[in-house]
Amino acid sequence: MSKLSCIALLSCMVLLVPPAAMAGGGELFVAKCGACHKKGGQAAPVNPADKAGKVWEKYFKRGRHPVDLAGKVNPKELDEIVAYLVDHAADSDQPEAAAIPK
Ligand code: HEC
Repeated sequence: MSKLSCIALLSCMVLLVPPAAMAGGGELFVAKCGACHKKGGQAAPVNPADKAGKVWEKYFKRGRHPVDLAGKVNPKELDEIVAYLVDHAADSDQPEAAAIPK
């Protein structure tokens, strides 16, 4: 492939995949929650398997998170993230303990 068509192809791929629109709950979790909850970050790494599904369902609704996430995670994103957390919680069929490396 010529260098030019390679560049053309790459720029088309970038246009076709706007990251925010494509992101599912798992990607949002790593991007949004992982912004603080990572090794060496301002908060300790967090993963879906840290809690049971019922706990995650209530966690943000009941205002348990110690930091206000307004302006950082919008309600729609938070819904998707919570759905992912519940799907991969400690008591789920596919617990996820390493989405954010500890
Ligand atoms: C602006 C930074 C920030 C963002 C973004 C953030 N958190 Fe936190 N979170 C904190 C801080 C600070 C604490 C308290 C210190 C700690 O637990 O290390 C905390 C605590 C927590 C705890 C309690 C820890 C425990 O063991 O019970 C959980 C659970 C949690 N966050 C989940 C999340 C999830 C899920 C998201 C994404 C929706 C998120 N956080 C986004 C900063 C953040």
